[in-house]
Amino acid sequence: MKDDQRQKIIIDTDPGQDDAVAILLALASPKELDVLAIVAVAGNVGLKQNALNALKIVELSGRTDIPVYAGCDRPIRRRLVTAEHVHGKTGLDGPSLPEPRIGLQPVHGVDFMIETLLASQGKQITLCALGPLTNIAMALAKAPQIAGRIKRIVLMGGASFEGGNITPAAEFNIYVDPEAADMVLSSGVPITMIPLDVTHQALATKPRLGAIGQLGNRTGSAVLEMLTFSERFDLEKYQWDGAPLHDPCVIARLLEPDIFEGRLINVRVEVASELTRGMTVADYWAVTGRKPNVEYLRHLDADRFFSLLTERLARLP
Ligand code: RIB
Ligand code: CA
Repeated sequence: MKDDQRQKIIIDTDPGQDDAVAILLALASPKELDVLAIVAVAGNVGLKQNALNALKIVELSGRTDIPVYAGCDRPIRRRLVTAEHVHGKTGLDGPSLPEPRIGLQPVHGVDFMIETLLASQGKQITLCALGPLTNIAMALAKAPQIAGRIKRIVLMGGASFEGGNITPAAEFNIYVDPEAADMVLSSGVPITMIPLDVTHQALATKPRLGAIGQLGNRTGSAVLEMLTFSERFDLEKYQWDGAPLHDPCVIARLLEPDIFEGRLINVRVEVASELTRGMTVADYWAVTGRKPNVEYLRHLDADRFFSLLTERLARLP
């Protein structure tokens, strides 16, 4: 029996329209990705709603074989900050998706992560973090030995050359739970960080959204409705030709790594100052002498990214 060469991944997420597109991209790629589970975390909206959104997205994809877990409902230390102003009251405003027939798994998402990592051989599992890092940090705190079982954490978060999006200094995922980000960045686990410096190059322009909307499947229509809703906040703020598409970059990195470019650098997170809470201090020019701990991506080929995304979404119902 040929060994399964697919990448085993767990998607940790706070869906959010862009999370939804990332999840759909992963579920449309069963030849390359063995999606072990989707774990919801509090972020864009509250945990309960994020978990419900995850169930709806799995059903939309037709991949109801994928289990969905609920993880942490608040950051490690901070009061939860949400982003209804971007994603709408439900966190997935835009399409009206039916109430899911599938339900959540009974185990807490953090315990699922720990049990799955401890039961895996070697370092086979990649954690794809699309929201605040609370679940992953809590798993590392509860069972530090899993650090040696994680192949890589690929996360959407942080910013340096672009500045922040929730404050002038911080990107939302890191801002919501800076202590969790600090724990993950100092865990010793191999990390790939996909910051706003990259995702602000992945602009969902009208032609790109149009190509998705014309796919003729329910996935294409739903994605068009999702992104047409969530883009309005960024279009008004940045006055660009399209809104940045953040979370699908994480999955695209697994599918076609050379769409992206970056380098190994040191990144630390501000947890003390309120003014710069959640700021990722990226030593891109190696001026501090601090040990590199992150593969920090800075560029992507946006045309290749969107053609990959569109081609894969076409494969879904
Ligand atoms: O800053 C962008 C990130 O915050 C994305 O993951 C988006 O879904 C929101 O969670
Ligand atoms: Ca997200």
